[in-house]
Amino acid sequence: MKTQKDYFSEKSKVYEKEPARVDNVTNIADAILNKLSYDKTTTHLMDFGSGTGLLTSKIAPHVKKITTVDISPSMNEQLRAKQDTLACELAMLELDLVTHELDDTFDGIISSMTIHHVEDTLALFHKFYRMLNSGGTIALADLDKEDGTFHTEDMGVFHFGFDQEAFAALAKKTGFEDVTIEIVSIAKKPYGEYPIFLLTGRKP
Ligand SMILES: C[S@@+](CC[C@H](N)C(=O)[O-])C[C@H]1O[C@@H](n2cnc3c(N)ncnc32)[C@H](O)[C@@H]1O
Repeated sequence: MKTQKDYFSEKSKVYEKEPARVDNVTNIADAILNKLSYDKTTTHLMDFGSGTGLLTSKIAPHVKKITTVDISPSMNEQLRAKQDTLACELAMLELDLVTHELDDTFDGIISSMTIHHVEDTLALFHKFYRMLNSGGTIALADLDKEDGTFHTEDMGVFHFGFDQEAFAALAKKTGFEDVTIEIVSIAKKPYGEYPIFLLTGRKP
């Protein structure tokens, strides 16, 4: 079996030590909670590319359960270490969502700073659509189109951010309704500032 490269093996231990990164995900979580309503007693979300669980931990107090999906063993290890502190039920899946098909369905899918690691974005939107219950929502945050300077190392990146209009068009083409997209945060690096959008939508 081919072993997949863990692009985050070095970064995972220091990932949450950058205050600007934590601030960015906090802004994203606040924007998601402003835009969408979840039910603490019933909502089951999937967090795609959950990493160390920054977004999951912020959304957890507002939902019943989050299933995290992440390909990186080292990032999952960081999340596993703090799973008892999360304010909702947690299920963790260590897999590549691009190549795996999940039978589970969810009331919503959340994702932060991950989709630029996926080559075929339209195929991913179709997969999200299949994985949602009727009325289920997506809340996807990622980099606005950038000049390729955001990542300074090879992290398995396929897109230098996304054009907002084109990204929203993919969601609509897939069948999502009530699609909105707006800048909700700025990811600050020592060498620049990178706007981050949040796209939301609903499966009819
Ligand atoms: C930049 S990190 C973002 C982590 C977290 N969402 C946050 O905002 O802090 C991207 C994460 O997506 C995961 N990832 C990338 N491609 C993936 C795939 N195809 N399937 C599952 N996880 C993936 C990586 O392993 C990594 O943990």
